[in-house]
Amino acid sequence: MLDQTNELTAYDRDHFMHPSTHAGTHARGESPVRVIAGGKGCTIVDRDGRESLDAFAGLYCVNVGYGRTEIADAIAAQAHKLAYYHSYAGHGSEPSIRLAKMIIDRAPANMSRVYFGLSGSDANETNIKLIWYYNNVVGRPEKKKIISRWRGYHGSGVMTGSLTGLKLFHNAFDLPRAPVLHTEAPCFYRRADRSQTEEQFSTFCAEKLEAMILAEGPETVAAFIGEPILGTGGIVPPPAGYWEKIQAVLTKYDVMLVADEVVTGFGRLGTMFGSDHYGMQPDLITIAKGLTSAYLPLSGTIVSNKVWDVIVQGADEMGAMGHGWTYSAHPLCAAAGVANLELIDSLGLVENAGTVGAHFRAGLADAMAGLKHVGEVRGDGLIAAVEFVADRDDRVFFDPAQKVGPQIAAALLERGVIARAMPEGDILGFAPPLCLTREEADTIVAKTRDAVVAVSKTLAG
Ligand SMILES: Cc1ncc(COP(=O)(O)O)c(C=O)c1O
Repeated sequence: MLDQTNELTAYDRDHFMHPSTHAGTHARGESPVRVIAGGKGCTIVDRDGRESLDAFAGLYCVNVGYGRTEIADAIAAQAHKLAYYHSYAGHGSEPSIRLAKMIIDRAPANMSRVYFGLSGSDANETNIKLIWYYNNVVGRPEKKKIISRWRGYHGSGVMTGSLTGLKLFHNAFDLPRAPVLHTEAPCFYRRADRSQTEEQFSTFCAEKLEAMILAEGPETVAAFIGEPILGTGGIVPPPAGYWEKIQAVLTKYDVMLVADEVVTGFGRLGTMFGSDHYGMQPDLITIAKGLTSAYLPLSGTIVSNKVWDVIVQGADEMGAMGHGWTYSAHPLCAAAGVANLELIDSLGLVENAGTVGAHFRAGLADAMAGLKHVGEVRGDGLIAAVEFVADRDDRVFFDPAQKVGPQIAAALLERGVIARAMPEGDILGFAPPLCLTREEADTIVAKTRDAVVAVSKTLAG
């Protein structure tokens, strides 16, 4: 039992406004406060001593796992030397410069520079500004619209919340704001025409995108943004042929591609970047989470040679670009990033994500096979999801009010494993630290089966 009576809990309910939390039930004490006190590897422990195997790596970000003293030591050493200096007007610190080089060394071909921020959201804000800047410099001031996808997740700012294609993040915020448009979500399982094959569905998505570009006027459409594998919108790998067909449409109409690799960057799919994994050719790449494994906040925009050349042209014509954050390339965050990327290499975590990920997904598929409320098991590398339905044969979804996904996540938590009930649909998501062992993978699978069976028994149908 979590202790809900002490001073810290009272402070929390009275003063701490949590993200993505029901404000009323939390403040009134109707839902628990859980204070996380420590972590090691894939396991976290709360202050009441309760351990959980974290099969979502925090918010799919603690990729090297908890308790890595190498990163803590690197942050401390940098803090003793120089805690902060800005990176405006050509200034830098040793770790920020070294980290930029390490990122470009690992990035897909044709990438040139890294612009550092602090969150995935601010990095995507930077991307959109760079795209608008680019089109102004090259004399196409009308080419500004950005196409995103329903179910895409790109952040919680005004622009990035608009790019996000999940209703929860628009409701009561007057989002989305122009000039953002949303096209078909790449969710094969949820396709309207169930006679379509994966390839046919990918063609359908590409044709819808092309129709939107033509309807808006290609001279007004600047960019398309997408996660290599859809994340928060349901953990959905692209259907067969999807990126190839989308890429062809973008090239045809000179529309830039932003690959949002906040989740997939630095190993999640068993490859360094999802763009390479799926053959995407992005102009800009968003990175965050796995860059520091969340030991400190750091994000980045990886800028291609094509975009960089125009940025240089713009500076030569107009002077320095007016875009900067106080904490861009913060030395402590950069030190965490350098130590984190070194650990990913020395521990072979990209490879581990591929091999243990394949073992985990195969085990999950076996364990879910035949369970009556399981509609689909899917994933790639070390990221996976199970989607639950009221009727498997006719693919009838549950009424969201039943909260089947959250019920299963809660039942799993009771069994000592954290997975995430994804926000739209009854979808249980898994994205454990990349250091997951086969034994831990087997534990997650076994406990997930127990939890699903237990909740299933309580459901009608
Ligand atoms: C693909 C993607 N892009 C952007 C973001 C936003 O990142 P942040 O929460 O650091 O602003 C997220 C966060 O989950 C994400 O998954």
